[in-house]
Amino acid sequence: MDESVVDVGLENIKGVGPKTREKLVEGGIDSTLGLAVALPSEVKGILGGEEEKASKLILYARQHLEKQGLLEKEFITAREVFQKRKAMKRITTGSQNLDNLLLGGVETQGITEFFGDYGSGKTQICHTLCITCQLPPEQGGLGGGAIYIDTEGTFRPERLFQIAEAKELDPEEVLEKILLCKVYNSSHLELVIRGLSKFVEKYNAKLVIVDSVISLHRAEFIGRGTLANRQQRLNNLIHKLLRLAEIYNIAVVVTNQVQSKPDTFFGDPTRPAGGNVIAHACTYRIYLKKSGQYRSATIVDSPCHPYSTTRFQITENGIEDIST
Ligand code: GTP
Ligand code: MG
Repeated sequence: MDESVVDVGLENIKGVGPKTREKLVEGGIDSTLGLAVALPSEVKGILGGEEEKASKLILYARQHLEKQGLLEKEFITAREVFQKRKAMKRITTGSQNLDNLLLGGVETQGITEFFGDYGSGKTQICHTLCITCQLPPEQGGLGGGAIYIDTEGTFRPERLFQIAEAKELDPEEVLEKILLCKVYNSSHLELVIRGLSKFVEKYNAKLVIVDSVISLHRAEFIGRGTLANRQQRLNNLIHKLLRLAEIYNIAVVVTNQVQSKPDTFFGDPTRPAGGNVIAHACTYRIYLKKSGQYRSATIVDSPCHPYSTTRFQITENGIEDIST
């Protein structure tokens, strides 16, 4: 899908009367796309009644979007897949080396995860991308805005202002195209992601950032008994982000902390938090590390990138190559 996507209202969906619609909207599902990517258990939780009814509504929503060409059919030909891949675009990170590591920049139609320790540069990369995605395509951008979902309270408009100025852009204009959403707990995050599609459309966002993606769930779901529930909710959340990236041809960037893996005797004893749930949904995972005054980035678990490492620096320009 491209710029021309317009979401269709819930009132057009079979089985959704005014009362049901009201309940869905109250529960955070306020678009057909939101309903189409919801889980039956979620819809049941909002509407009450049988899960089977919830499943049907989701199916009707999907069918409606499919008919309008707004959702991929269940079976598509390899040629169609190929065409879709060709529509994929990339956003420059500001560092040529980091772009090369990503084979040209941060991709649309997928999720790119930056993980690493405190101060490794995750949030700085996110801030830089909010600016570079607004550049015209010939300068490595997508000519659109960004949505920044901040779960850690580290969003800094002053820093965006500085990076925009350093790149000789009009800072006021640039800031106007970055939509911030501050999130306070895991349920809030889930709700925000459920209703994200209409903001992507309204603000012509080409990039969605979640900084960071699992810290809230990690802090709130403690103990082994709650682990399955947590993983299921994370799985749901990350797959919604992935669908959003695919349907709107936008880039999704998430950050993640590392957790130490004490049973590793060789190599780096750290790995991204979140386990397989996050690993499977993310298209690219980049491990960031402090390396003296610079930062190193290593691509891990990629289906088509060779394992490789590069370095960059954090400056007033945001992210940059190391000057020689
Ligand atoms: P956590 O969120 O704590 O896990 O870390 P993070 O990986 O998000 O780190 P972040 O991106 O916030 O990096 C922080 C580092 O970026 C600082 O230690 C500084 O070295 C650098 N930095 C932050 N702001 C600026 C700035 O305005 N100018 C420059 N030159 N460097 C900055
Ligand atoms: Mg951070």
